[in-house]
Amino acid sequence: MSAQEAGQSGVHADPSHQAWAAADPLLRVSGVSKSYGGRIGCADVTFDLYPGEVMGIVGESGSGKSTLLSCLAGHLVPDRGEVLFDTRAGGLRDTMTMSEPERRMLSRTDWAFVHQNPRDGLRMGVSAGGNVGERLMAVGARHYGQIRDQALDWLDRVEIAADRVDDRPGAFSGGMQQRLQIARNLVTGPRLVFMDEPTGGLDVSVQARLLDLLRGLVREMGLSAIIVTHDLAVVRLLADRLMVMKSGRVVEAGLTDQVLDDPQHGYTQLLVSSVLQV
Ligand SMILES: Nc1ncnc2c1ncn2[C@@H]1O[C@H](COP(=O)(O)OP(=O)(O)OP(=O)(O)O)[C@@H](O)[C@H]1O
Ligand SMILES: [Mg+2]
Repeated sequence: MSAQEAGQSGVHADPSHQAWAAADPLLRVSGVSKSYGGRIGCADVTFDLYPGEVMGIVGESGSGKSTLLSCLAGHLVPDRGEVLFDTRAGGLRDTMTMSEPERRMLSRTDWAFVHQNPRDGLRMGVSAGGNVGERLMAVGARHYGQIRDQALDWLDRVEIAADRVDDRPGAFSGGMQQRLQIARNLVTGPRLVFMDEPTGGLDVSVQARLLDLLRGLVREMGLSAIIVTHDLAVVRLLADRLMVMKSGRVVEAGLTDQVLDDPQHGYTQLLVSSVLQV
C-alpha cells in the first residue's frame, strides 16, 4: 500500500495480515490520537495485533512512539480512538472504559510493560527474588517455597546466578537490571508485553545478548509484543511486523523484512539508509 494509505487507514489493508487472518486479534487499535496542548503526540493510529505476533514501532526521536505505547498500555488516556483487548473472561473489551480495578488486574496478569530504564520497572529497595516473587503474590500466589522456586527458575532463565537472589537491583549492572525487569514481567505468563526501548542505554554487546534472550522467550512463550525502538536491528531480530512513525503518524507498515528491504516511504528509505551508513 502507499504511504498515504498507511497514514490514513492504518494497516488494516496490509497484506501481511494474511498470516494471522485465521485468529481473532488480541489487540485492536483504532484512530488513537493524543496531543499535548497544541503539539501532536500521536495521531490516528490504527492496527490489529494478533496472538503470538510481535509488532515493532520505529521512528526518530519525538515521532510519538512512547506516546502511542503509553496510550495502548493505559498509562495515558488518548484524546480519541479505541483500544480493544481480547480479555480471557469477556472477549474484546474497550480498555479505556473498563473500571480501574479491571484495568489494574489486566496490568498484573495479561499485560506486561518493560520500561527503557529498569529503575522505572523494578522496586529498587526489594531483593531480586522479591522483585520476581512480588508479581506472583499480586496474582494470588501464597506458598513461600513455591514462590521462591519460581523466582529462582526465572532468574536462571534470564541468566542471573542463583547466589544473587537476595541482592537488591542497585547492586546489578544495567544489563542485569534489565534482565531482572524482564523476569519480573514475564513470571506471571502475560499474553501481551509492551516494551519501550528495551535495549536502550545498554552497550552493544550487552544489547545483543539481551536481544537473543528476549527472542528466545518471546518464541518459547508465544508472546504477543509491541516493541518501541529507534534501533532497526532490534526490530529486524524481534518483530514480525513493523510500523514506521513520523510526526505522530504511521507513514508505513508491513512485514518487517519487506519494509526494511524495500521501503516505500521516503522517510523509511532515509531511516534504512542512514543505518547502513553508520
Ligand atoms: N509530557 C509531555 N508534554 C508535552 N509534550 C510531550 C510530552 N510527552 C511527549 N511530548 C511530545 O510529543 C511528541 C512525541 O513524543 P514521544 O515521547 O512520544 O516520542 P518518541 O518517539 O517516544 O521519542 P524518543 O525516541 O525520543 O523516546 C514530541 O513532540 C514530544 O515533545
Ligand atoms: Mg520514547
